[in-house]
Amino acid sequence: MIYAITGSTGAFGTVAIDHLLDLKISAESIVALARDETKAAGLKAKGIQVRIADYGNRGSIEKALKGVDRLLLVSGSEVGQRAAQHQTVIDAARAEGVKLLVYTSIGHADTSSNPLAPEHKATEKALMTSGLHYVILRNNWYTENYADDLKHARESGIIAAAVGLGRVASASRTDYAEAAARVLVGEGHDGNIYELTGTKAWDYQELADTATKLLGRPVTFKKLTAAERRESLMLLGLPEGAAGFVTSLDQAIEAGTLATASDDLEKLLGRKPRSLEEGLRAALG
Ligand SMILES: NC(=O)c1ccc[n+]([C@@H]2O[C@H](COP(=O)([O-])OP(=O)(O)OC[C@H]3O[C@@H](n4cnc5c(N)ncnc54)[C@H](OP(=O)(O)O)[C@@H]3O)[C@@H](O)[C@H]2O)c1
Repeated sequence: MIYAITGSTGAFGTVAIDHLLDLKISAESIVALARDETKAAGLKAKGIQVRIADYGNRGSIEKALKGVDRLLLVSGSEVGQRAAQHQTVIDAARAEGVKLLVYTSIGHADTSSNPLAPEHKATEKALMTSGLHYVILRNNWYTENYADDLKHARESGIIAAAVGLGRVASASRTDYAEAAARVLVGEGHDGNIYELTGTKAWDYQELADTATKLLGRPVTFKKLTAAERRESLMLLGLPEGAAGFVTSLDQAIEAGTLATASDDLEKLLGRKPRSLEEGLRAALG
């Protein structure tokens, strides 16, 4: 059985490959799809086959998927282009006879008002109508997304956001990646949609309390309005569009789009996912 992974040079793909190796999949059975060979040097050093593939070049994807049985499509990072890019991968996988495609989506992609959800929803629909066997892994937020907030809070003592009382059922990227590896090599997942989250949803006061504990200094949560958040991000140097986008992600959190915890991740891992505190401690290094 040959397993391939897209986004293999990214944080998620790298860890997913390490989990495949931990699951005793041999390096020769793993194909890492990468658009930049230089970034894949570490994978090559582990004996993994690296094949060049760019989502913008269907031919490169088809070539890279020759002989592949199962594919983990790690969602891309070029927001706005991803629905088309993922469609290209799905079409190439179909053409090359891939037997199972596992896709990393976003929590409640079909109903979420999160501004990142529409591209994932489009990809899920493309998969469902592709004729491929598929599994959808709807990942909540990565706990690691908050590492920078803690680094800033080490100086300022403040975590500021326009999330109101919104809650986030985050989990560690490494736990999501382990679940993805387990699903890729496992049996009985075909056609399933998993809502992957931490065991409990926390609010930003709890985030600040956890930061206080980990940083050994008082950290408070400062509730901002959307206008204040946008302005503060622009003062930090973000262009207006990017500041507006980040603010809209906060508003999606306030609206509860990431607030529902599920036990799907725990079931796939066969253990409790890392808590917010454990995930942040690891992310801070
Ligand atoms: N749930 C969350 O909180 C959360 C947070 C962040 C991201 N995400 C999603 O999860 C995905 C994986 O996360 P991550 O942390 O691993 O992100 P990442 O480190 O940015 O990795 C993204 C990967 O996609 C590859 N890629 C991007 N555009 C490509 C293209 N046109 N052709 C081929 N490969 C391309 C990148 O290649 P290069 O190395 O060459 O750039 C990289 O390997 C992200 O892409 C995003 O969709 C989720």
